[in-house]
Amino acid sequence: MNIAPFAIEEYFALYEFQVPHLLCASDCEALTVAELLALAGRPLTDLGSLHLGYTESQGHPALRQAIAGQYAQVPPQAVVFLGAPEEGIYLAMQTLLEPEDEVIVLLPAYDSLRNVAAHICGPGRVKPWPLTPAGQGWQLDLAQLHRLITPQTRLLIVNFPHNPTGFLPTLAELQAIIEIARQHNLWLFCDEIYRGLELPGRDTLPSAADLYERSLVLAGLSKVHGLPGLRAGWLIIHNEALRQRLINWKHYTTICAAAPTEFLAQAALAAHPQLVARSRRIINDNLAAANAFFARWPDLFVWRPQQAGSVALVGVNQPSATAFCRQLIDEAGVLLLPGPYLGYDDRHVRLGTGRVNFPAALAHLEAYLQTWPGG
Ligand SMILES: Cc1ncc(COP(=O)(O)O)c(C=O)c1O
Repeated sequence: MNIAPFAIEEYFALYEFQVPHLLCASDCEALTVAELLALAGRPLTDLGSLHLGYTESQGHPALRQAIAGQYAQVPPQAVVFLGAPEEGIYLAMQTLLEPEDEVIVLLPAYDSLRNVAAHICGPGRVKPWPLTPAGQGWQLDLAQLHRLITPQTRLLIVNFPHNPTGFLPTLAELQAIIEIARQHNLWLFCDEIYRGLELPGRDTLPSAADLYERSLVLAGLSKVHGLPGLRAGWLIIHNEALRQRLINWKHYTTICAAAPTEFLAQAALAAHPQLVARSRRIINDNLAAANAFFARWPDLFVWRPQQAGSVALVGVNQPSATAFCRQLIDEAGVLLLPGPYLGYDDRHVRLGTGRVNFPAALAHLEAYLQTWPGG
């Protein structure tokens, strides 16, 4: 059976390691193993004595305990540690969905959040629930969500903080979404991989895992903790039968996580406050540079800074964002991600604000634009 091309990953496979100035990465600046262990107060030699046997399929009990400690109402047995965050999306969709089911997905969305469901149920049964631009930000239409639900709807897929818009609902909106899911007995897949990166003035929302018994919550260490190469992620699933069925699917993918990943993930959770503060600091500094930059280019860009997370979706006043990005790659060595690779329109690009070289990359973009005939 076919599955749609993973457009974002195909784009990054082409350019991420070729183009010198990355301005669209979704992760935060990565650390070295030595930096991570130092923050966690563990000697580097501990890694040398790690036993490289198989690990427990659901994840090491101490690791699951540490993960559960990040939530208010999550027992360690509800945690499934994954082979990578991405795996959780695939496993959840395979476990939950049958071809006759309908799914509602918040758009734009990270490819796998909509494509795996479309692969199982057919594209016609995956109903888009669009976030729309509103002034300086983005908005949800809860009345539209009501209208999209039919007796066949089994699953609602959301992602907060949102990639690529940086949208964060209010607590009242999140509670309303959960109330709608509860009324219709829907499963809620809530991708919280950017949770913890709220900008000053916005609180971290409670996890859907602490609010709704029929939620499947995805989280991990790739974005907030600056550890994408660790491939560390987890799902929280309260429902025992569903969790066991998902673990069965996991036996067909990774069986268990890599032992070094489990070891370093425990170190990262021990250093959670320092890692989150570090990423937030980087993003805040970069947003100051971004605010100043976009204030100088009001005719070319429509700037809607994120409310949370590391990415924002920026309007581009050009006939084709894709052609514009292509020109930036070829002539400026700068990488932005065009909207169509996010399942969105060709008048937007994704901006990533989590890397320390962001101001330098932005300066390259600006130097190029100053000589650009289209500017
Ligand atoms: C919303 C969202 N979910 C899941 C993932 C998957 O994370 P990873 O690439 O670390 O597996 C990403 C990665 O960009 C993402 O943006």
